[in-house]
Parts: sequence; C-alpha cells; structure tokens
Amino acid sequence: MVRLLAPTALVLWGAAASLASAQTDPAARAASLLGQMTQDEKLTLVHGDLPLFVQNRPGDMILAAGYIHGVPRLNIPPLKETDASLGVANAGRKDDDATALPSGMLLASTFDPNLAYEGGRMIGKQARQKGFNIMLDGGVNLVREPRNGRNFEYLGEDVLLAGTLAGQSIRGIQTNRVLSTVKHYALNAQESGRHILNAVIDPAALRESDLLAFEIAIEHGQPGAVMCAYNKVNGPYACANKPLFDIVKTDWNYKGFIMSDWGAVHATADALTGLDQESGEQLDKQPYFGDALRAAVASGQVPQARLDDMVRRILYGLASAGVLDPQTDAGALNTAADAAVAQREAEAGIVLLKNEGGVLPLAATAKRIVVIGGHADIGVMSGGGSSQVVPIGSTSFPAPKWGPPWGPGEVFHPGAPLEALKAHLPGASIAFDNGADPARAAALAKGADIAIVFAAHWDTEGADAALTLQDNQDALIAAVAADNPRTVVVLESGGPVFMPWLGQVEAVVEAWYPGSRGGEAIARVLTGEVDAAGRLPATFPASLDELPRPKLDGEGMSETANLDAGTPFEVNYNIEGADVGYRWYERKSHKPLFPFGFGLSYTQFRYEALKVAGGRTLTATFRVTNTGTRAGIDTPQVYAAGTGQMRRLIGWGRVELKPGESRDVTVTADPRLLASFQEIAKKWRLAAGAYRVTVGRFAGDVALQGSARLEAASLQP
Ligand code: BGC
Repeated sequence: MVRLLAPTALVLWGAAASLASAQTDPAARAASLLGQMTQDEKLTLVHGDLPLFVQNRPGDMILAAGYIHGVPRLNIPPLKETDASLGVANAGRKDDDATALPSGMLLASTFDPNLAYEGGRMIGKQARQKGFNIMLDGGVNLVREPRNGRNFEYLGEDVLLAGTLAGQSIRGIQTNRVLSTVKHYALNAQESGRHILNAVIDPAALRESDLLAFEIAIEHGQPGAVMCAYNKVNGPYACANKPLFDIVKTDWNYKGFIMSDWGAVHATADALTGLDQESGEQLDKQPYFGDALRAAVASGQVPQARLDDMVRRILYGLASAGVLDPQTDAGALNTAADAAVAQREAEAGIVLLKNEGGVLPLAATAKRIVVIGGHADIGVMSGGGSSQVVPIGSTSFPAPKWGPPWGPGEVFHPGAPLEALKAHLPGASIAFDNGADPARAAALAKGADIAIVFAAHWDTEGADAALTLQDNQDALIAAVAADNPRTVVVLESGGPVFMPWLGQVEAVVEAWYPGSRGGEAIARVLTGEVDAAGRLPATFPASLDELPRPKLDGEGMSETANLDAGTPFEVNYNIEGADVGYRWYERKSHKPLFPFGFGLSYTQFRYEALKVAGGRTLTATFRVTNTGTRAGIDTPQVYAAGTGQMRRLIGWGRVELKPGESRDVTVTADPRLLASFQEIAKKWRLAAGAYRVTVGRFAGDVALQGSARLEAASLQP
C-alpha cells in the first residue's frame, strides 16, 4: 500500500498504535491460536448463521445480521454481527433503541473526516453496549447510478472523499474493540438484479475508481474484514472472484479476512478463489463452508493449507480489531446523549441548494409560516433495508409495491421538524397541512409569509428508485409555489432527485436522511443558528439522458424471496470507466441540475493567492476569506488533471471563518489520484508533464487556477 499523505492519517495511526500496544501482535496471536485448534474448531469459524432462520437459538444469539460460534476453550468469543454504517440496525427486534446517524450521503456532504470518526465511535460503542463485536459498516461503493436504492448507505461518487470517510468511520468503530468491515467489494452499484448481474469494466479503470476507494478506506480504517458483493464482476461472482481477492490480499497486502455477503456464496469451491468466511449460510442454496467444506478438505479438493489460511485471516482480523481482548464494561446505553453526535453531523451535512431573495435563514420577523407534507409533523425519513435503524418512537408506513418483500416499511425517525421549528421560532404562528391534497395545501400557503414544503423520497436496499419524487410531491410543490412565491422546499432523499419546480421556489434544502435529531438539525439550519455547510457528494442530473446508462439495466427487478430470480444481464461500466460522476459530466460537457461539491452558505467566501508546487506530487496552497457578515463554514475544493485526464478532486479544506477572517489551505495530492494503473506491470504510473490545478466551489468551477510539472514515477499499489 502507498504511504498515506494526509497528515490526519498519521495522527490517527499514532492513536491506533497506542491502543494496540496493550495487545500482542495480531499475526503472532493468530498463528498461535491456529496452532492449537482442532479441525472442528477451524471449521466452526468459517461459516455463520442468519439468526432469524435458526431454530432454538442459543441464549446469546441476538436476532441480528449474523452469528458465528466461538471456541470457548481458546477464549475465541462467538462473533455477533450487526449492521451497519448508520447505527445498530434493528433487524426486527422489539423495542430495541439505537441512535440513527444521518445517511452516508449526508455524512459525505460534511466533507469532514472527524465527523465520520466520531459517528463511527458512537455507533461502535452502541454495538458493544448491545453485545455485538462485529459491525457491518464501511459501505464505500461509488455512486455510479443515482437511482441506486442504497446510495444513502454510501459516501458519494468521489474516490478520495468516499474512501477517506469510510476509513474514518471504520477506525471510529474499531476503537470499541468491535471489528468493522468495508463493503461491498466491488461494484454493487445498483440494487436491480444485484444477485444476477455481471458488472463489466476494464480492470485498470476499476483500479482507478471503486477499488481505489476501497484501498484508501482500508488504509485509513484498517478494517478487520472485507465483505464481498452479490453481483458478478467481469465474469465470476464477487464472492468467488480470484482477481479481486488477489488485489486485496496480494497487491494491498491485506491480512484480514474476506466474508461473504448474506446469500452470496454459490459453491464450496469458492474457498479456493480466496473467500474466507460464509455469512448467514441459511440464505445460500445450501451451507457450503460447514460439512461440505469439511468433506472437500478431507478429499483434498480444498487443501488443508487453504482452510488454515482462512482461519488465520479471521483470527488476524479479530485480533487486530481487539475482538479477542478482554471486553471492558461498555457502560449503559444512552441514546439521548449519543444523539448529539448524530445532530452535529446532520447540521454539518445539510446542503442549501438555492436561496433567492434572502428567504433563508428564516427571519425572526416571519409571523405566519405554513409547513406542508413529508410527515414533518411526525419525524424524518430514513432508508430501508439491512441498515435500517429504528429508534424508539419511530413511525412506519407500509412500503410501496416496488420495494423488496421484507423490512418494516418506510420508517420516520422521531424528532419532528414541525415541533423543532415551533420551538426555534416562538414568535411565529406555524400551521401544518399533510399535503395529501395539493389544492388544500396551496390554499393554506396562500395567506402565509412563508411556505415550507417537506418532500420525503424513500430509498431502500433491494430495489432502485426513480429520481422523480414519489407520491405526487412534485405537483404538491408546484401548487404551493404557485400560490406562495416564498416557498422553501426541504428534501429528505437518499440520493439525487429531479426538481421540475426549481424555478418556482425561492429556496431548496437537501436534508438527506438526517437521522436521530434530524428535525432539530433542519430547524437550526433553516433558522440560521448554524451555517448551511453541506456540499453535494454526488452530481444531481438534469435528466436521465445525461447518465452513462439512461435506461437502468434490469429496471424494476426488485429483490424477491428467491434471490437468484430473473435472467442474468450485464451492466457495462466501461461507458464511464474511471470517469465516475462529475468526471463523466466534464467529459460529456453536460450541465447537471447541481454539480458535485455544490452547496451555498449563509455567507460568502473569496479564494486567492494560489500557489502550486510540483515534483513528486502536487501541492496547492491558497487563501480563503469570509467576505460576508456572518460566521460560516466553507469547503473549497481542489481539482487536478494531467493531459487527457478529466479533473479529479485531490483534496479540500473545511474552514470555519468569522466575518473578515482568512485562512490558508494546503492540499497535497495522493499521487494515485493523478496516475493511471498499468494492469500488466501492476503498478501506478504517474506521467511526467504539466498538471492543471483548479480551486473552486464545486466540480467544474474555476475560481483559481495554476499548474505544475510532475516527474514520472512508478508506484506500488
Ligand atoms: C447486505 C449487507 C448486510 C447483510 C447482513 C445484505 O443483504 O447487502 O450490506 O450487511 O445483508 O444483513
């Protein structure tokens, strides 16, 4: 692995090292344990249960994602696995409280690795408090498809942003002696047909995009395990994919283990390709790594050395994450206190997309406000699927027909924006209409000073969603805006959506799925108690024609009880290759609805004095000044490209500035972001020559520009 250039990473690794000093070397520990294990004990560790499907569950088997029996004789605890990146998922347990972090898209909108770390630390702690020692976190699939139902679990379309934040979240979780995964390796970029589709891509382009995000996440987070994906990649299933596994284990020198996704194993021989553990075996056609693997080893079909390697890797992952260490008291669950972490993140990641006529922040003088729709009187929208966190006080509505046949439906997290707005605007009279009848809502809005329409758009694992707002909400917004020009729209969506009414409204706020205390965070952004600080981590297309695949392959194939149902098909990712997201837009000269990186503040910032240095990599330094009259937070972005390359984000600043205050920002590029991957040599090649550097407020913006020459270099992966 290439040495990390980001200074934060060095600090973080220092912290991890001191924690590790209490433990012995994980490799030595894994080897010693392996040497003491019987064949039965080894086989115990390589396959696990889906508790929901287990008859007569053992007393310590929590109804959750997974359970793997331990080896008490050697103090190897049972592995108790919970989803996911946004908090301790509920998995159908009764009245099981947990704090919901905002969605991954919201986290990515903060551009703040520290918030990712703090969020990870909090949910890892709650996992421990609930008895888990493995968290299925670290979703880092790039947003190649804005309709992907799981974008809300991921961290946007940029390699550096997604990889850095996933890594910090993982690192935060593992401070609790809870192992975290990074997932879903690789190219699980859409839900339609995820069990049967073959993702086709040039191997070098894959290295320069999705795999680089995984590589960066692994470097920052040192996760104990990698979870492979459902789909096929260039032929074989991702969980039986020797080329993909060789990259992790050999090229990146990764010592942990590869666990399957649930229902992603198709043969005992998958062990030969490098898969180390079968998860939730009841979801597979048959258990492949239990008795079947025992027989395969006995017959020599799978060498004993491979089984030993599988177990050694699992033990290494557990040891390196602290799971084999004595577990200290995790304290009592305190969701009220932990919700402050979620709120801080939500406030930092809500994105202000439009603000005309100074309608926001809401003036203290606004007297008559009408709040409409989106169940704003109940709570805030959340995303569906295995990552679903259900805090006590949540409200569920039946899922629409296009969704998968499981889960609690559309879940609204408590903390209603309506109540929060009333608390923050005590001088205003605030009326509510549920928006079911656009004409009635518009009539109510007519007499008000300001109308705030909440639009909730549900995304879920197991299905993809159209970009058009569901349940006629576009018509509702248009009707309200026609009767009240001072209309503010607050979107709660998992990813990008279309906005046909954009020209009719004064303000648009993308609140994503803002988690526990999301209502409070929305109120604080709308009233300007905090700055609008979020920046989009994914491009919002103006139309489907702009996408690499205007028609979604496998459209409408939401998951059914038979996971493999349907005719297999291909998704051709060679169309965009490594030019994911904003790079594709630059290549095609498309004008999106909103570009990657975009987001307004309540103040203004000036950029100046760019200096660019070259040599072995690029370093850019420039000054940011708050030229407005309010304190605010800015995220100036640095993009770079060599000849023939589309510009790519090489770093950013996140600066909090008082009016008139300035700060210098320095960004040093990870050279892999500017290099091309050489498949034959298995090396990164940085071409000699001039590299253009631009500083801007979003992808494509050129506030400052410069260039510098880089020396040719060949870098190991
Ligand atoms: C998802 C994983 C999840 C697993 C366990 C799968 O369906 O793809 O992300 O961790 O279930 O619940």
